[in-house]
Amino acid sequence: MRQDPRFPNLFILNHPLIQHKLSHMRAKDTSTRTFRELLKEITLLMGYEITRDLPMTTREIETPLVTLDAPVIAGKKLAIVPILRAGIGMSDGLLELVPSARVGHIGVFRDPETHLPVEYLVRLPDTADRIFILCDPMVATGNSAVYAVDVLKKRGVSDEQILFLALVAAPEGITVFQNAHPKVKVFVASLDSHLNDHMYIVPGLGDAGDRIFGTK
Ligand code: URA
Repeated sequence: MRQDPRFPNLFILNHPLIQHKLSHMRAKDTSTRTFRELLKEITLLMGYEITRDLPMTTREIETPLVTLDAPVIAGKKLAIVPILRAGIGMSDGLLELVPSARVGHIGVFRDPETHLPVEYLVRLPDTADRIFILCDPMVATGNSAVYAVDVLKKRGVSDEQILFLALVAAPEGITVFQNAHPKVKVFVASLDSHLNDHMYIVPGLGDAGDRIFGTK
């Protein structure tokens, strides 16, 4: 795990397997099917890392030999919340890792003129004492990410209950996000160079939603 001195709450998961798979995803000739599979595989690897510090407790169980206070994850079931639509490409992988998780959805699209998020759907499980993993492969301007955290916070979710999982981020987007939500941890596979004039991440991987779903 690597950090950037500019962004104290950004964690870059530079595991060789994650980086190798991401390079294949970036290649423009990678098929929809492979892109989707790689995203799922990377999400499994990232999900393993970001759940490292989940709060633990013990539960008494009977093994065939003795009674044991066995370690289990504390609190309510996790909530996985993809930011639609590209976030779905990551929530599938997270659900394989945590099959009993609750799943919320936050639907926002980027207004092509203003580049600001426009909400069209919010469905969430109850929020008290629950860890939320928000996911969106790309943090470009940071506006959708900020908006999604705002949605959770308005429902009483605290900074510490939120983990934001992305694949690729632009420094511009992380700056915006960090200014809005400095205490929320963000995990990415890569912090790329910059945004271009169309607000695409460079080098990036193009439009993540289109590449996951095979649309144009
Ligand atoms: N959204 C994407 O899917 N790709 C980008 O590069 C920027 C935003």
